[in-house]
Amino acid sequence: MVTRSLRTTARRALVLAAAGAMAVTGVVALSGTANAATTLGASAAERGGRYFGAAVAANHLGEARYFQTWTTEFNGATPENEMKWQTIEPSRNQFNFAPANQIVTQARSRGMKVRGHTLVWHSQLAGWVSSLDATNLRSAMNNHINRVMGQWRGQIHSWDVVNEAFEENGSRRQSVFQQRLGNGYIEEAFRAARTADPNAKLCYNDYNTDGINAKSNAVFALVQDFRNRGVPIDCVGFQSHFNGASPVPGNYQQNLQRFANLGVDVQITELDIEGSGTAQANNYRNVVNACLAVSRCTGITVWGIPDHYSWRPNGTPLLFDSNYNKKAAYTAVLNALNTGQSDPPPNDPPPNDPPPNDPPPTTGACAATVSTNQWTGGFVGSVRVTAGSAQVNAWTVTVTLPSGATLTSGWNADRSGNTGTVQFTNVGFNGSIAPGQSVDFGYQGTGTGTGVTPTCAAS
Ligand code: G3I
Repeated sequence: MVTRSLRTTARRALVLAAAGAMAVTGVVALSGTANAATTLGASAAERGGRYFGAAVAANHLGEARYFQTWTTEFNGATPENEMKWQTIEPSRNQFNFAPANQIVTQARSRGMKVRGHTLVWHSQLAGWVSSLDATNLRSAMNNHINRVMGQWRGQIHSWDVVNEAFEENGSRRQSVFQQRLGNGYIEEAFRAARTADPNAKLCYNDYNTDGINAKSNAVFALVQDFRNRGVPIDCVGFQSHFNGASPVPGNYQQNLQRFANLGVDVQITELDIEGSGTAQANNYRNVVNACLAVSRCTGITVWGIPDHYSWRPNGTPLLFDSNYNKKAAYTAVLNALNTGQSDPPPNDPPPNDPPPNDPPPTTGACAATVSTNQWTGGFVGSVRVTAGSAQVNAWTVTVTLPSGATLTSGWNADRSGNTGTVQFTNVGFNGSIAPGQSVDFGYQGTGTGTGVTPTCAAS
C-alpha cells in the first residue's frame, strides 16, 4: 500500500536522521547507563554546556584528516594566526579577512563556538603600527578593534581583546601601546570592544598566569579594578602552555577560582602540555578536572590538533599524534569530561586548612572557614560563609591576621582595615544566605596569612 510504504520510508528516514544526529554530536547509548559522549566537544557540552575547542590553521583545512578530526572531535575553534594584526590589517585600514573567515564560516556552520584571537598584542603586529605617534596609534587601535570585531559582529563567542600585556614580575610589558598610550590603553581597548560587538565576551588573555604568582596577581588586580569601576570585561584567558620547566601549578584550580570569584568567566585558551604517555595524560586530566571544578570555567581550547602542527612539535604537546592517532592524553581528557573527578584535584589545600567547599559546623547563625594559599612573601585567603538553620540577611566575618601580614586587596566583601583584626562585611549582592547555603569572599596580602581562624556573626 502506498500510504504504508510512505510511512515506512518516513520512519526509516527518521531513524537514519536520528542516528546521524547522534554521530554528529558524538553521543551513543551505552546499555544500562546514561548516554556517554564519545567526542571531546560533545562530552564538554554535557558538562554544563562547556566547549572543547582547538586552535585551527586555515592553511590545513584542505587536509582531510585534519579537517575531519577538527569537525568530529571539537565544538570550538580559535584561528591560530589568521586574526592577528599582521595578517588581518597588514597596511593601515586595509583588511584581509579571508583566511580567518574560512575558519569562522566552517566553525559556525557546525554550531561551534569561535574565539577571536587577538586584537591588541605586541607580537605579530603589522610593522606600520610601531611608527605611529600617540594620536595616530589611539585612532588606529580603535579602528582596528571596530573593523575586526565588526566583521563578525554577533558571531564570535569570546574575543581576546588584549593579549600578554604583563611581564613575569607583574610590571606592564613595554609594548608600543604601553609606551605611547600609557596604562590606560587596556581600558580603552575594552571599552572600544564592547561598543564594537556588545554580544561578544571580552577577555584578557596571558601565559604563565596559570598559578598564583606576581604576573597573575597583576592581572588579578587589573580585573578587580575593572570590575570595581564598571570597565567592561567578561572573561580571563589562561593560555596554559606547560612543559617540564613550567609544569601545571598545584594551585591551578585555586587561581581559576579566585578570578571567577571576581564575577568573570575563566577559559583555558591555549592548552598544550609537553611530554608523552601517562605523565602527559595525568597532567591533562588535572587541568580538565580543575576546569570542571570551577563553575565559571566555561571552556577549554587546545593549541592545535596533531603534534606535528603544534608551534612546538618536538614537545609532542597535543592530544593527537602526527598520524592523528588518539594519545593517552586524549583518553584521559575524554574520561575526565565524562566522569568528572577521577584523581584528586591538583590544588589540594594545605592539610591544616579545611577545604573551602566543606561546610563548617553551623553552631551559630553563620560560620566561616578559610583556605589559605601561601607563597613566599604573599597569600590569598578564600573564605566561605555558611548560614545555619535560619536565613542570614547580613554577616560580618572577623579575621585576626598574623603580625606582619598586610592585606592588599579583597573581593566580594567590604573590609575594615588591612592589618591585625579585620572585619569583613557582606556587599549588596551576597548578604542574604538561605539556610544551609554559602557565599564566598576572599582577600590577598603580603607576609604570612596562614593559621587564622575566622569567626562569623549574622543578622
Ligand atoms: O605562514 C608563514 C610561512 O609562509 C613562512 O614560510 C614561514 C617561515 O617562517 O612562516 C609562516 O608563519 C609562521 C606562522 O606561525 C604560521 O606557521 C610564523 O613565522 C610564526 O612566527 C608563527 O608562529 C605563531 C606564533 O604564535 C607567533 O608568535 C604560532 O603559529 C602560534 O601558534 C603562536 O601562538 C601564540 C599565541 O598567538 C599567543 N600565545 C602564545 C602562542 C604560542 O607562541
